[in-house]
This record gives sequence, C-alpha cells and structure tokens, in this order.
Amino acid sequence: MLHGIKTTDASPALLSRQETLIDQRKNLHQQTQLLSKMPAVQSTAVVRPLTHKSPRDFGAVITGLDLENLSEADFALLYDTLYRYSVVVVKSKKDLSAEAQYQVTRRFDPESQTYGHGTTLDAKRSILHPDLKTVPRQPQVQIIGHGFIPSYEGLVNFQLRHPHHKTFHRDRIPEEDDRKYTRFYRWHIDAALYDLNPPRVTTLLAVSVPKGRRQIVRYDDGTGDELEVPLGTTAFVSGYEMYNRLSPEDREFVRTSRIEYAPHPYIWMSGGRSLPTGLGLYSEDRELPESELPPIESEKIKILPMLWKNPVTGQFALQIHPSAIRRIHRADGSTIDDLKTVRDIVYRLQRPAISPAYVYPHDWEEGDFVLFNNQGVLHTVVGAFADNEVRLFRQCNLSASTPPVGPDVD
Ligand SMILES: [Fe+2]
Repeated sequence: MLHGIKTTDASPALLSRQETLIDQRKNLHQQTQLLSKMPAVQSTAVVRPLTHKSPRDFGAVITGLDLENLSEADFALLYDTLYRYSVVVVKSKKDLSAEAQYQVTRRFDPESQTYGHGTTLDAKRSILHPDLKTVPRQPQVQIIGHGFIPSYEGLVNFQLRHPHHKTFHRDRIPEEDDRKYTRFYRWHIDAALYDLNPPRVTTLLAVSVPKGRRQIVRYDDGTGDELEVPLGTTAFVSGYEMYNRLSPEDREFVRTSRIEYAPHPYIWMSGGRSLPTGLGLYSEDRELPESELPPIESEKIKILPMLWKNPVTGQFALQIHPSAIRRIHRADGSTIDDLKTVRDIVYRLQRPAISPAYVYPHDWEEGDFVLFNNQGVLHTVVGAFADNEVRLFRQCNLSASTPPVGPDVD
C-alpha cells in the first residue's frame, strides 16, 4: 500500500509507478549510505576543473589517484567530483587492469554487477552488437576501438570497428570530405532501456590513441553550426545544462511527464536512420514491428522520469535517449503516441544544449581513465578513422541496482 492506494486494485501502470517510487527511495537510501561512509581523511589527489567554454562546472581532471588501490579518501573525492563535474578525467595508465576498472565502476553502486546491456548484445540484430567485444575474465568490461589488434586481454587477432556515421545516418558526408568533416554519431545514455536500469557511471580507459588529426563536426541542420574536435573524440553534453536552458513552461512539462522507451529498443530501431545531428531518428516507419521483435514482457518496458536527480547537488538533468523513445506519458494520465510528434518534442527540448558552446569534446591521451555520470550527461562517439589508425579502449558500466530518481510530482 502506497499513498493510500491498495496495490491489488491498481492498474499495471500505477503498479509500475509505485514500484518505481519504492525503488527510488531505495536509491536515495543507498546514495545516503555511500555518502555517510565518506572518510574524514583527506585525499592528496588534485582536482582541476576544465576551463573549456560552458557550463563552468562541466568536466574536471584528477591527478594523483591510484586506481588499482583506491583508498576510501580517494574514492570520496572521486565520487564528489563525479557528481559535481559530471565528467572526470583521471590521469592514469594504459595498463590499468580490467579488474580495477570493474571495481572502481562498481564502487559507485556496490549492489550492481551486471553489464549495463546485460546479455541483450547477444541478439545479432541489435545495432550495438558489432561495436563491442568482452574481456573474457571480466565480462562487465568491453573492448572497443578501431583497427586490427594482434593480442589484448587474452584475445588474439581481432578487428575493432569505430562506428561510422554512414552506417547509421540517412545523409552521409561525401567520401571526398570524410577525413576532414564528420558527425556526432549518436547522442545517448548508456542503457539497455528494457528490463535493466540505466547505469550510474560509465568508465572508459584509453589504451591506444591515434594522435594528430582534427576533424570538423557538421550539424547540417540548417543552423550552420560546426565544431572542431580531436580525431575520435568522445563528446559530452550536460543534462543539467539541457534542463537549465528550458523555458518555465518546458521545465514544467519535463518535470511532470515521463518517457516510455520501445521494447528491445536497439533491435526495434535497427532499420532507423539518424538525423544529421545524431540527436534522434527520422520518422520514416522503418522501426521493426513488435511481431518481429523478441518476445515482449510488458513489465520490462521502461517508463522513466525525464528528469534525473543528482545525489550530491540535488540538481535535475534532462535525461532522454532520443533514438529509443516511443511515447510520452503526461501528468494528466494521457499519452502522446504519435512517434514523429514524440520525437519532435524531445528534439526541440534537447537541441539547444548540443550547440557547439556546450559540447565538451575530450582530447584523449593514452592512460586517460574517464568516468562520466551516465545519469547526468549525454555522450556520443565522433569521427572516422582510416584503416591504419588503431584505437584501443576499454569500457565498463553496470546496470544500476535501482532506477534513476525523478522529481517529486505527487
Ligand atoms: Fe556510450
């Protein structure tokens, strides 16, 4: 029983809402416990906020952390920095162990232990399938990158492929311009968005990075926007800034509405084609019908708040995965079902915050260990490598033990 409503009499949607509220309280309780364990001893590591454009509290560099043996004081600093700056670059080493990467990632959510996409990557039709290889002895850690790798983490003679926009975008940059110009591939949150909860934190380790070239991201949406970036950058935008930039009316809309994701979204969208900004899909009826998807269990469909609460600052981030959205649930109980309308609404809300001034394109150096608040930023891979440009990274995130915490709308 919750808020005076007998669960036995409630509709499935209401039951799901009640379970979400219970889970959210568990989440707050966990986060409070994590904070209460923070030690009095000070870390000697150094935090330096990044000095790129805006917002000012977006991105920080930490030096002096030993990620293989992270003390309580160092983790406290890392935790606090992550939630205050959203993206944290730890200057580490390229041979950091996969075990250490997993343990650091898990420390943000000790009850979690499953990779963020679970086993859904086994589905051959998922658009994520070709992009990831798993570290055999630490299956929550994935190997990503580009080019031929003779030997790494117990795997030999394998090929990695950096996602190229031509495989996902409707309109391609012409071949002759492909080295100079590029696109944001796909703005996203790392999340299965079906059954599993979105991970709290993602970690990325740069093992091998081709250097020297830069490229220009073209938005090609009629604005003339462009952004010069390092080759193979990972680009981030702040969900907090995305929310802060909204009008009072739009803030109220996102505070009180929830977003429903398609079941098996990465298979569902496999025929879809991206807008040139990488911020969602064209509506061309190319999504797979439910009859062509794996069996759907309705209780596993995700209906999430649009705003997710930061456990340290209390701020809200507008967090929507634009390619996977299916419908909007409004405060009055009605739904917006037309897919194009849903996409147009979300695009209008999100587009201002991916303008060049608000994007942080990280310039990778080997040994960089980047952690980002996956419940407070959107990110995308960028760029196109030549065949002889080898990039080797490791990625880890864990399906969260609880759903993201939304605003109190009751
Ligand atoms: Fe990602």
